[in-house]
Amino acid sequence: MPPVIHIKETDSTNNYIKELLSLQDLEEGTVVYSDFQTAGKGQQGNVWESECGKNLIFSIVLYPDMIRANQQFVISQIVSLAVVRVLNKYANNITIKWPNDIYWNEKKICGVLIENSLVGETIKESVCGIGINVNQTEFISDAPNPVSLRQITDGNLDLEMLLYDLQETILDNYSKLAEKEYAEHIACEYKSALFRREGYHLYNDGISDFYAQIIDVESNGMLVLKTEDETIRKFAFKEVKYLIT
Ligand code: BTN
Repeated sequence: MPPVIHIKETDSTNNYIKELLSLQDLEEGTVVYSDFQTAGKGQQGNVWESECGKNLIFSIVLYPDMIRANQQFVISQIVSLAVVRVLNKYANNITIKWPNDIYWNEKKICGVLIENSLVGETIKESVCGIGINVNQTEFISDAPNPVSLRQITDGNLDLEMLLYDLQETILDNYSKLAEKEYAEHIACEYKSALFRREGYHLYNDGISDFYAQIIDVESNGMLVLKTEDETIRKFAFKEVKYLIT
């Protein structure tokens, strides 16, 4: 397995691995994990809360030069499916809330922040940052619905064991990307792992609330919804919000 680098504290493991990359070559699949982030980054400029030493906060670097920039969503799919596969060993009802939040029932157990650097149409580096709530039991930020593995299973979990399992599972999924049929297989597996994949649920498009059903997630990552009057609507990330009722 590629190296796993442990650091006590950093602003963000994504930033740390990107800085390292600017100074030296790193083997593909190298992981940096930390006990604490002083400025952990979440989606949409949010801060990622993680109590010191309690959770898994790490980044893994990939060089997916076989993937065109317009297909970069597949990285998000393989990473989130790897997390689902590993967390399924500990709990039931682990799903992916499009595009790549990991949920346990109606609560968020893990966030993923992927930062790709593109050169023309190819992805030069993909820094995949993953934060899993593992042993934390109190959350102070205003994140709406956090939950940890500790809160839904018995006893404290071993962070490094979880980390090595995740590294292996991500790299295993990733290595199969070269196989032609695998991208299709991944798309199916992703859809069947989706949070609220069945039935009508409440969404907001920035203007109003509406009920809709998930029809598809396209290879470019667009979410396809069918509203109650059978209109098909497509959304890019940030264009639509799931409302938790
Ligand atoms: C989200 O908002 O859901 C994404 C959260 C991603 C958090 C992880 S923790 C490890 C890595 N380093 C960061 O600064 N962010 C990601």
